[in-house]
Amino acid sequence: MSEQAKKEALEKYLGVLSPTPAQGEATEPYKEVDELAYALSRVPLGTPRPLKVIVVGAGFSGLAFAREVETGQLPNVQLTIYEKNASVGGTWYENRYPGCACDIPIHNYQYSWAPYPYFKSYYATGPEIHDYMESVADQHNLRKYIQVSHKIIGAKWIEERQKWQVQVVATDGRQIMVSNRASKDGEAGEPFIDECDVFINATGCFNDWKWPTIPGRESFNGEMIHSAAWPDKGVDFTGKTVGLIGNGSTGVQILPAILDEVDKVYVFIRSRTWVTANFAQQFAGPNGANLFFSEDQKDRWMRHPEEYLAYRKEVESELNARFRLYLKDSVEQKQALEYSISQMKEKLSGKPELQDRLIPEFAVGCRRATPGNGYLEALCSPKVQVVWGGIESFNQAGLLSQAGDQYDVDSIICATGFNMSFSPRFPIVGRNDVNLQDKWDENPECYLSVTAADMPNYFVYLGPASPIGHGSVVSSLERVTEYISKFIRKLQTENYSSVQPKSHVPRAYQRQALAWLDKTAWNSDCASTYKNGKPDGPLISLHPGSRLHYFKLLSNPRWEDFDWTSLCPDEDLTFAWLSNGFILEECQKTGADLTWFLGEVEQDKVIKPVV
Ligand SMILES: Cc1cc2nc3c(=O)[nH]c(=O)nc-3n(C[C@H](O)[C@H](O)[C@H](O)COP(=O)(O)OP(=O)(O)OC[C@H]3O[C@@H](n4cnc5c(N)ncnc54)[C@H](O)[C@@H]3O)c2cc1C
Ligand SMILES: NC(=O)c1ccc[n+]([C@@H]2O[C@H](COP(=O)([O-])OP(=O)(O)OC[C@H]3O[C@@H](n4cnc5c(N)ncnc54)[C@H](OP(=O)(O)O)[C@@H]3O)[C@@H](O)[C@H]2O)c1
Repeated sequence: MSEQAKKEALEKYLGVLSPTPAQGEATEPYKEVDELAYALSRVPLGTPRPLKVIVVGAGFSGLAFAREVETGQLPNVQLTIYEKNASVGGTWYENRYPGCACDIPIHNYQYSWAPYPYFKSYYATGPEIHDYMESVADQHNLRKYIQVSHKIIGAKWIEERQKWQVQVVATDGRQIMVSNRASKDGEAGEPFIDECDVFINATGCFNDWKWPTIPGRESFNGEMIHSAAWPDKGVDFTGKTVGLIGNGSTGVQILPAILDEVDKVYVFIRSRTWVTANFAQQFAGPNGANLFFSEDQKDRWMRHPEEYLAYRKEVESELNARFRLYLKDSVEQKQALEYSISQMKEKLSGKPELQDRLIPEFAVGCRRATPGNGYLEALCSPKVQVVWGGIESFNQAGLLSQAGDQYDVDSIICATGFNMSFSPRFPIVGRNDVNLQDKWDENPECYLSVTAADMPNYFVYLGPASPIGHGSVVSSLERVTEYISKFIRKLQTENYSSVQPKSHVPRAYQRQALAWLDKTAWNSDCASTYKNGKPDGPLISLHPGSRLHYFKLLSNPRWEDFDWTSLCPDEDLTFAWLSNGFILEECQKTGADLTWFLGEVEQDKVIKPVV
């Protein structure tokens, strides 16, 4: 523990203490021994030491954290969120491709603390979700924490100060800044340093989009578009011939959305995929189709929040109950397989030859199964020609398939996904000069998807090993928010300057995770985002268990898995944080409930007199 960090902590206490202690306030023996312990002994137990927190990113995760501060869950925390884009929303601000939508029932893809019964349909559109997030930022007063158009380009832990120095650069104000390591596009002005005690990475795992590794991209004469970098002005496909690469969740949404406009689409498909309404489909429309809510229904939910909550709980229960299908060879997996095959066959009956080449042999869920509303039907349209297999190259006129056929097109849409390596997109240098980029390039060992070795006071949302494979991410990131807050409160009130997982913990955790994931559907024979696009890649993305299993683990942090650095390293001062012998509420002038341990008791629990 450095003297510098201790001095800075002492200054914070001295800033709020009167020059002379009140009667009985201080622990006098500390006076000659340790200035900080002495100052601490004058404040009530639970007094939160002021801390500065910097969050990178104002998507669902960043906004959830801002709300924690705004609602007073983290008193004495000064928060700045740096967001590189011109507004909040993250995924839902960046993805503007036609057909962009949620594939989780929308009433379960929203904050528990900001219910919105007005979504138009069961699978809401991207723009609707983005509007919701803008409203959340406004109506929950979160904007004051957010500096938009500011990009973080590096962070370094300063051991002597027990602080992170974060390097920030303003942007030129463009709506969307590219999120990869190499690009400096849109950065404007001189970088500056902002400091914080706690650094939270909420940069998301789906925004470092990637072009396909196919030669000749620059030579194409027409429009070349990536789904996650859709042109602001939109694209008019009327009367055009389009090449669409990819049949992941994105490609599956784009095809039906552009079908009416285009003259013809070549859909380049390299791998089989499940297109099946498996997520709480009984609440959706017939055959898992999207369902549009009536005005009466929305109005009723607004007027009867208890009914709205009951509906959301029912859908959520169903989502959670489906988890067993992700176990290879489970009864639920077999049922899902049979159901999905029959669904796909039915929807592809217009072009039966597609059935043999598209319906997978691997387990349902190995690649993210998507309801893909209208995708299979669109593949059967006479306007669509599927080109099977890999692509050899792009050229001036279009694409050359690996089978040797040329396809001339006006526009190419690359729905080719994201870099899912999880390695940070800017250098994060922690203790012992460890750069998380280097470490995670090699292997992203992460404890509970939130903390990493050698990274004190560093937390990440949706890091490696998070439950992104099933259910809504939003309830997961709410649980992560609570988890991080518990660490921050402990740092603030128990005289610690930093915390990091013990060095073996992320490694041991990953070992357990990969061993458990071995028996899952995700580990069957497919290339997927969970394996960063490689058929035999390790399943570093996923939590080893259900979402509920993850929530349970987060609910009660295992402090024994962490090393804590005290601001008073002398072991004899370990309990200086017991402070002045009173709790904070006792020393407040008004209003605090000092009898919180007494509550109402049900009538039948009242002890009757012995007769
Ligand atoms: C098209 C699409 C559809 C999806 N649909 C679903 C779904 O149906 N259900 C589901 O559960 N999940 C879905 N997801 C996953 C989705 O990403 C998460 O649900 C959620 O939105 C993640 O929120 P986040 O805040 O963690 O990250 P993001 O939304 O990615 O936000 C990260 C933010 O960090 C900012 N940022 C990044 N780097 C920097 C930097 N260096 N400096 C400053 N700011 C930075 C970004 O600009 C962005 O605003 C979908 C993803 C995509 C791409
Ligand atoms: N909820 C939603 O509705 C929704 C919508 C969109 C995205 N998402 C999220 O975003 C993640 C990413 O989805 P995504 O569809 O954008 O990406 P993705 O799942 O990684 O799919 C990328 C597609 O591009 C293909 N591809 C990549 N490089 C190629 C090449 N060189 N030649 C031919 N084909 C190539 C891939 O083929 P191979 O499979 O053969 O590699 C795959 O079909 C999803 O896992 C999901 O979590 C969700």
